[in-house]
Amino acid sequence: MSAGPLRVICVAGARPNYMKIKPVMDALDERGADVILVHTGQHYDHAMNDIFFADLGIRRPDYFLGAGSGTHAAQTSRVMTSFEPLAEQLKPDVVVVTGDVNSTMACALVTAKSAALLAHVEAGLRSRDWSMPEEINRVVTDRVSDYLFAPSPDAAANLRAEGHHHDQIHLAGNVMADTLLASIGRAAAGGTLTRLGLSPGEYGLVTLHRPANVDDPATLAALLLALGEVAVMCPLLLPAHPRTADRLRSARVPAQIRVLPPVGYLDSIALQASARLVLTDSGGIQEETTILGIPCLTLRDNTERPITLTEGTNQLVGRDPGRIVTAARQVLASPPAPRRPALWDGHAAHRIAATLCGSG
Ligand code: UD1
Repeated sequence: MSAGPLRVICVAGARPNYMKIKPVMDALDERGADVILVHTGQHYDHAMNDIFFADLGIRRPDYFLGAGSGTHAAQTSRVMTSFEPLAEQLKPDVVVVTGDVNSTMACALVTAKSAALLAHVEAGLRSRDWSMPEEINRVVTDRVSDYLFAPSPDAAANLRAEGHHHDQIHLAGNVMADTLLASIGRAAAGGTLTRLGLSPGEYGLVTLHRPANVDDPATLAALLLALGEVAVMCPLLLPAHPRTADRLRSARVPAQIRVLPPVGYLDSIALQASARLVLTDSGGIQEETTILGIPCLTLRDNTERPITLTEGTNQLVGRDPGRIVTAARQVLASPPAPRRPALWDGHAAHRIAATLCGSG
């Protein structure tokens, strides 16, 4: 470890990283660490990137690797080959990676073979679905991490079951809650609903971007059919990820579903907070709806975030159209009571920074 302040590289690369890294950077700054932000460039469009930096008030990255899009191997290797010389030059004490995107795993592998320690924020989540690239990224990243910051007890239990040493596992809570609780006032004041001509509690929000849901035309058509039926009960809004927007161009979108470009962080929170119902395949939105107490139907067969089912407002409904419509009807008639898991309290990043800086 270097003399002087702890030197920490914080890595961000894709949309779901930004709200996780921001509170960790702030908490490390408060403790006097030397924080360097490296952006891998996995996401780059204004709507997928810049708007999040602006909404979250994240400073400009100190280094931008420009990895861009590509196959998994191409993207992962571009991040690795550009991160390796930079980490060698910067000589950090610790590298912090968050979540489960390709950039997370790429920087984790480089760090594991360097002198720096590796900290994984959001460690221990498991869907046990090896067809998801994110599951591979999670398992590999955790395996080579020195600090494992788990958001919930189930995640800590997964890490213990995989043989990680108890000294490495820190039940820190959920950094997504830190950011959401700090941003909800600004989100509510931003005029999102007025701009879109919506009234609170009178619409449902849909997000879909998993390859398993949008890449196969027959699967996407069946989901759209189900969503069309739900939209008759409650009009639906669908801000579309670029991958989804591309696939929707050759699909039949039911009339009651309003497709929008991707929305930024504050608009997304405002839309979730006033929705009657959210239908999603996103991991982050399963958590955000639980934090907000909004009913969520997850259009997947599994989740790496089971605590949102047992201690939140989430329900797994898979891809079967009949099951989706029945679940939506039930939830609209009788929404679940809001509840929030312990340690999703707005202070997770402080616990993480305290551990990294040696007083936690
Ligand atoms: C990635 C993550 C996923 C996360 C999602 C959030 C991996 C393996 N997947 O998936 O876990 O939930 O981000 O959005 O890391 N594209 C653009 N503009 C951009 C970025 C992407 O148009 O700024 C398009 C490109 O055509 C690209 C495609 O979206 O090929 C997919 O992007 P990529 O980052 O590879 O994966 P996501 O599907 O976004």
